[in-house]
Amino acid sequence: MKDTNRLYTDLAWLWPMWGDAAAEYAHYCRHVTGIIRRFARRPAVTLLDIGCGGGKNVLNLKQEFNVTGIDLSSTMLEQAKQLNPECTFVQGDMRTCRLGRVFDAVLMDDAISYMSCMTDFEAAFCTAYAHLKPGGILVATPDVTTETFQQNRTTTTPVTRDGLDVVFVENVYDPDPTDEHYETTILYLIRDHGRLRIETDHWTMGLFALNTWRQVLRETGFEVHEGRYDLGEDEYTVFACVKTG
Ligand SMILES: C[S@@+](CC[C@H](N)C(=O)[O-])C[C@H]1O[C@@H](n2cnc3c(N)ncnc32)[C@H](O)[C@@H]1O
Repeated sequence: MKDTNRLYTDLAWLWPMWGDAAAEYAHYCRHVTGIIRRFARRPAVTLLDIGCGGGKNVLNLKQEFNVTGIDLSSTMLEQAKQLNPECTFVQGDMRTCRLGRVFDAVLMDDAISYMSCMTDFEAAFCTAYAHLKPGGILVATPDVTTETFQQNRTTTTPVTRDGLDVVFVENVYDPDPTDEHYETTILYLIRDHGRLRIETDHWTMGLFALNTWRQVLRETGFEVHEGRYDLGEDEYTVFACVKTG
């Protein structure tokens, strides 16, 4: 099935209703800030958020850093700018983008999941490396790895806002465990004052083992440290990757 990526294009207006609560972004960003302060080998003032989306992480990180965001989607960048008018946003592809500037810290959060083959995965980390000053740090958190992936997992999230009742039904499925990706299929049940509209979406996402993450990060040139991020029942590995050279 062909990818549609509608949550980042024509259905991007649903993005503010999608995903974690604001408090969870704030909690995660406090964790990221702690890692940066602990592992960076230089004072961290500037931060690049690669795949910044609608700028929910930026909203929290700008309290600590001078933040720039990169994203592929102009629609998502519009939202990020509205939420964070004082920050800089640039449209770019994380596989190839070169801003001609370097930063003290780089964050690669959930957007790295869209690197659905090894070539793209490696290219994205090279982009992070190229945008760091010596002593700077990349923080990367895999949403899912081969070890944590749950075949055919389906989650249903109802959200109500401004006269809209939306149900996000998200299914993940890996048709071929020997390759480097899986598929996410989404149903959006949108009721505008009771009138139902059904939309669908499809994404191909990367799936790599933790050892592959470690190896690719090291081969990119990073000194790699690992920590855990605890979110209730879910626990994630967090990579703190220092550019030593
Ligand atoms: C889940 S959203 C990120 C949300 C973000 N963490 C936030 O704080 O709002 C994923 C983003 O990845 C972006 N993305 C996907 N592929 C990309 C690529 N090759 N380069 C840059 N951004 C990409 C999408 O456009 C989308 O905005």
